[in-house]
Order: sequence, then structure tokens, then C-alpha cells
Amino acid sequence: MQEQAIAWRHAGDDIGLVPTMGALHAGHDSLVGRARHDNQRVVVSIFVNPMQFGPHEDFKKYPRPFEQDRARMEALGVDAIFHPPVDQIYPAAFKTRVDPGPLGEVLEGKSRPGHFGGVLTVVLKLLNLTQPKRAYFGQKDAQQGAVLQRLVRDLDLTVEIRMLPTVRDTDGLAWSSRNVLLSAGERAEALALPRALHAGADAFSRGEDPVLAARAQLNGLTPDYVEIVNLEGASVLAAAVRVGSTRLIDNVLLEGDLT
Ligand code: PAJ
Repeated sequence: MQEQAIAWRHAGDDIGLVPTMGALHAGHDSLVGRARHDNQRVVVSIFVNPMQFGPHEDFKKYPRPFEQDRARMEALGVDAIFHPPVDQIYPAAFKTRVDPGPLGEVLEGKSRPGHFGGVLTVVLKLLNLTQPKRAYFGQKDAQQGAVLQRLVRDLDLTVEIRMLPTVRDTDGLAWSSRNVLLSAGERAEALALPRALHAGADAFSRGEDPVLAARAQLNGLTPDYVEIVNLEGASVLAAAVRVGSTRLIDNVLLEGDLT
């Protein structure tokens, strides 16, 4: 992958990287579409990264429909699908871990200790392996985007990070690879998450407390957190909930700009 990427760059082509864990959906398609528009070459990585999962999280049951993903990406005209085995990314002697600092310890980082260290480590490796001029991420994972933006600024990486808006299904639920793990009943319950965040944003625009307003609309879903967070200049109302055994996250922008 790295040799191919270096050859493309030497030939003068810009590379756009879309890092994913697979089980690809309309949210991923939107990142690929933008990457296709901005660059001569597009690489989609599909790698379920064990380092970003906690010991009791869903690494094993995370969906891996590779053939379906391959067909979907071929139809979008990507130049390469980078799908390495775990032991090539993390050989036995592997030791290094990128520390995200304080932004990695709130919200998702507080609920999932070590998560953002795992994300930063794998993304830094993927950037070095695929040599992109631009890398594309979704606002659905707003905190992840902010932590990655800090990585690039703090370590003087030359890649440009592009953050694209959250893509939602027609019922308002944000597309997520984990949605396939929901039963029909759970999916109906999960709709309270985007509704609650929407209610929070409305409350904010009336000068009321968005967290209280959102919590009141969760319809019995158990929240891990509902919080306002300042991410690199943008103010976001973010929540994580459990629906059955599946954990979902979502957020809405209150003020500022995440791009
Ligand atoms: P994954 O969950 O597969 O998401 C890959 C990218 O797609 C992320 O940037 C995510 O924010 C974006 N995305 C997911 N759902 C979206 C939606 N509904 N609308 C818009 N964008 C969406 O995030 C990861 O993988 C991993 O942590 C990764 C960055 C690949 C590192 O392992």
C-alpha cells in the first residue's frame, strides 16, 4: 500500500483517504464522494481496529461484511481498498501508543478509557501507509474529529482533515455500522436519540438548558452521557445511549463550525 501511495504522489496525484471500520453505509459514501471530487486517487481503509475497543466492548461482534463493502466501494470508483490483517498493523513487537491528552478523557474518552489513544495510533499509521493529501471524517464522531485535528496540528502533520456533516436515514437516525445490530423494536426506540438532541438544540436557541431538554426526551433510553462540549471552537450537544446491548452516539452543533 505504501509503495503504491508513494508512486501515486510521485506521479503528481493527490490521494484522499477515507478511514473506516467497514460495514459501509451512506455516511461513509458521502466521505468517499467528497474524496473522489477533491483528489485524483481515493483510498478507503477497512480495518476493525482492536486497539480502540475496550476489553468488554463489541470488537468480536462488530459487523464485517467485507464482500458487500468491496462491491459498494468499487461502484463508487475508489482506487484502492486497504484491508490489512490485524497482525500486519500490530505485529508481535508493537509497543507505541499515541496519547490524545485531556480531550481524550471527556465524553467518549471517559466512558471508553483508552479509546482515543487507539484511534490516534491507527489513524497515524494509516496516514503514513497511504500518504494522503486529505483525509475525510464525519461530524457524527465530532470528538474523534477534534482529537484528530489536534494530532495534525500538534505533531505538524501535513495532511488536511476534512469533516463532513452527519448523514441520517429518513427517520432521523444517524447512519452507523452498529445500526444493523438493532432489532426492529430497538431501532424504533433508538429514534429518541436524534429527537432528544434536536429538542436540545431547539431549547438552546430559546436560551434554555439543552441538556435538560434533551434528557427529558430520551423516552427511557439509558444515557451514558448528555453533555455540551467545546471542540476546537465549536459547541456541540453530544450524547451516548444504550439500546439493548448496542451503544449509539450522536451529536448536534449548537454554535460555531466543525469543518
Ligand atoms: P467508522 O465508524 O467506520 O467511521 C468511519 C468514518 O465515517 C468516521 O469519520 C465517521 O465519523 C464517519 N461516519 C460514520 N457514520 C457517519 C454518518 N452517519 N454520517 C457521516 N459520517 C459518518 O470512526 C471510525 O470508523 C474509526 O474510529 C476510524 C476513524 C476508522 C479509526 O479506526
